[in-house]
Amino acid sequence: MQIGIDKLSFATTPFYLDLVELARARDVDPNKYLIGIGQEKQAVVPPTQDAVTLGAAAALKLMTPALKERISTVLVATESGVDNSKATAVYIKRLLGLSRFTRVVELKEACYAATAGVMMAKGLVATDPQSVVLVIGTDIARYGLNTPGEVTQGAGAVAMTITANPRLLSLDQVSVTASDDLMDFWRPLYSEDAMVDGKYSTQVYIDFFLQTFERYQEMTGRQWADFDALLFHLPFTKMGKKALEALLGDHDDPDSQRLRAALTASQQYCRQVGNLYTGSLYLSLLSYLQNGQARPGQRLGLFSYGSGAEGEFYSGVLQPNFENQLNDVAADLATRQQLSVAEYEKSFNGQLGLADTDVSFDTSKDPSPFWLTGQGGHQRQYQVNQ
Ligand code: HMG
Repeated sequence: MQIGIDKLSFATTPFYLDLVELARARDVDPNKYLIGIGQEKQAVVPPTQDAVTLGAAAALKLMTPALKERISTVLVATESGVDNSKATAVYIKRLLGLSRFTRVVELKEACYAATAGVMMAKGLVATDPQSVVLVIGTDIARYGLNTPGEVTQGAGAVAMTITANPRLLSLDQVSVTASDDLMDFWRPLYSEDAMVDGKYSTQVYIDFFLQTFERYQEMTGRQWADFDALLFHLPFTKMGKKALEALLGDHDDPDSQRLRAALTASQQYCRQVGNLYTGSLYLSLLSYLQNGQARPGQRLGLFSYGSGAEGEFYSGVLQPNFENQLNDVAADLATRQQLSVAEYEKSFNGQLGLADTDVSFDTSKDPSPFWLTGQGGHQRQYQVNQ
């Protein structure tokens, strides 16, 4: 039985920051951000959005009344969770109006966890081929104002359904996972912003990619030339280039040219929103499918990386009419509104964060489908925008 991704969708915030403006405000050459890091725009998060509202918004884009009836489990991967006990998935299930008889749980291992969700979902579908598992990766990447990581911030969520006989990507049997206890990036419980050893993190990422891919080659006999595209977790677009070049070296034949062109297509959406943490790899997939030379029957390689650290390389085969299983990301991005650097900083400092007080947010300027309207009696308040 084939198991894999049946539908895939993406949602982000309605606001963005132009990184040329950020570069000027930080007295940095804009080309460092545009070329050196490879980012043009960054999603800005209003106080009315968080991991719950973004995750629900992504899932809403793929939802139909018939699908609602079939979802047996919701797995939400996030490192921007809103509670130390209650799962983000519980709130999302309620906002989506899913059945009471739904299993809900939250998964965490930095940016890697959505891939853990895909693999766990694959197991659940193998035991019950009728079931549909909804996997969501939802995050807000925060490093802090005026930090080296600031240019790599971002926000958004992806949602996927994992089913038998998938209409988008059928997963191959072999996948390779590696993990190691190390400190390249982390966020202590008392901090809203990530801590990072930036240069070390990029090196660890490349090591995990090369090691998992090498083992995958040994186990399958497939080489890089056997892939139509290699897709990456993209904390910033240059990271994917660093990883691919570490593999291809100075090869310049048709196979390596195809992989480089596919990487460029897969980077387009990340360049417009920034790091999504858990959702990032799957936004690369969406970007390749909508901007690259994607065709049914192609074999795609996917590299998932989460700091701390865990990596997984796996692969799948594109299915006929896969293009009908995606939301129109370019159209959605075109509706966003640009904010000034001052407005971005106000939004950044206006998040609920770790505050333990009652608060009420103004939702009038946020057109998103779900809102965080505030906090009362230590309970977060969510509302559907009708
Ligand atoms: P930095 O020190 O500000 O930047 O930090 P830099 O000085 O290294 O410059 C960056 C690049 O810009 C360099 O190119 C420069 O040469 C170039 P590279 O050598 O890398 O190819 N440059 C220019 N290019 C054109 N014109 C110019 C110019 N000036 C410089 N004028 C860093 C950069 C990425 C380290 C920082 O932004 C950071 O710490 N980011 C956050 C950490 C991160 O994203 N790490 C990625 C791997 S870890 C990961 O992916 C997991 C993660 O998603 C978290 C999770 O798992 O949850 C982060």
